[in-house]
Amino acid sequence: MRKGHAVTTKKEREELIRRAANAKERAYAPYSQFRVGAALLTKEGEVFEGCNVENSSYSLTICAERNAVFQAVMAGKTSFRSIAISSDEHSFLPPCGACRQVLSEFSPSMEIILTNSEGKMKVVSLEDLHPMPADLKMLARSGGR
Ligand code: THU
Repeated sequence: MRKGHAVTTKKEREELIRRAANAKERAYAPYSQFRVGAALLTKEGEVFEGCNVENSSYSLTICAERNAVFQAVMAGKTSFRSIAISSDEHSFLPPCGACRQVLSEFSPSMEIILTNSEGKMKVVSLEDLHPMPADLKMLARSGGR
């Protein structure tokens, strides 16, 4: 995280990490056995959890991060401050490219909290992970023309 870019308090980060680990417990990952949980903090202060949900048709799998985003959007929340990501791995698990792009759609400079199985965390900015997101909002402005 660049200096001065942390957008959450220590307490908020701890809560997000706890909620992400909690969400991981609900992962549906019978094929990879790779459980992931995410906890997304909205501008309004609500937290939405997500887990990965796999499928017999492998490519239909959804990552924990996108699951959390879609739950938030469904609840009418589209501005995010931070997301914590939890897995069972020793190394930090960064969000995949698809999730970076989906998060960027809503909050391109939000905070990302990476965690590992030893309880360590690393805080980064989405704009560092995904510096030039696809941004086609001009399509919406032009009415789809
Ligand atoms: N996965 C996530 O949920 N988030 C990530 O950041 C990386 C990968 C899931 C997708 C799949 O169910 C499993 O982890 C293995 O790729």
